Amino acid sequence: MRHILEIDDLNAAEVVEVLELASTKEYPKVLDRQGVALIFEKPSARTRNSMEMAVIQLGGHPIYISAEEIGLDKRESVEDVTKTLSCFHSMIGARVFKHSTVERMAKENQVPIINLLSDEAHPLQALADVLTMQQELGDLQGRSVAYIGDGNNVFRSLALASGFLGMEVRFSGPSEYFISDEDRDRLNFAGVNVTEYDKPEEAVKDADVVYTDVWTSMGQEEEKNQRHKAFEGFQVNKELMGMASEKAIFLHCLPAHRGEEVVDEVVDGSASRVWVQAENRMHAARGLLIWLIEKHLGGRETI
Ligand code: CP
Ligand code: NVA
Repeated sequence: MRHILEIDDLNAAEVVEVLELASTKEYPKVLDRQGVALIFEKPSARTRNSMEMAVIQLGGHPIYISAEEIGLDKRESVEDVTKTLSCFHSMIGARVFKHSTVERMAKENQVPIINLLSDEAHPLQALADVLTMQQELGDLQGRSVAYIGDGNNVFRSLALASGFLGMEVRFSGPSEYFISDEDRDRLNFAGVNVTEYDKPEEAVKDADVVYTDVWTSMGQEEEKNQRHKAFEGFQVNKELMGMASEKAIFLHCLPAHRGEEVVDEVVDGSASRVWVQAENRMHAARGLLIWLIEKHLGGRETI
């Protein structure tokens, strides 16, 4: 059984297969009459809607479950929730605070677990990101992505996915917010190298893609003031975009904190592809679901 908790739960060839399935206009009814449980410990607009629609397009039935309702480790243990939901559903997607929660779910090995964002990773976002870059730039081998800001969940997954496809991955942010040594080792193990730049101007120089995410992620609200100070000078604005390649595109996983990590004229500007990127969340999710079912659940009895 395959669980997708981070991009490196796939190899590079498998990421390519998922992207191909994401691009097909055929929606096989591989989830006919099957349920997919979607647990959310944090809010969501894109992830919930894209996953629900992807499940529906494949003939299945998504069920949204809020943290309050399911009470992970409060009303019932994560393990017992996983076993229970597996009685009714063919897969479980979960957006959680602690990455260890999705790891514990996967350990039960009842049905495939898909990480819908944890404090460490956001793999479905990264699949949509590389799909968008491919659509815009074609073959990504040798192209460059410059990520400016916080070395967070979105960055780690993006680095893995874009590195797998042969991109040069650059990072610029305050050094204390770069990914951990452990994460850097994990990336290196996956064959992905990230070049760290002190100055965002150097990181974006001639880059094909400029990417940023919020400085304060969900669950870090108490650190907001301290983070604002630390990230000063790492805003993606028109001047910074002007230093990237002439045809550079701008990406952001959204939601954007306009006026903080990015300004209106970049999000709404001609280089921005953020809405295509948002739509691609649904296509990428569908591609991954088809891949998981066709390649790894082929023989499983439907519920
Ligand atoms: N990009 C993303 O995951 O958006 P949501 O938090 O709205 O799901
Ligand atoms: N890094 C952000 C991404 C939101 C989609 C967060 O975790 O809140």
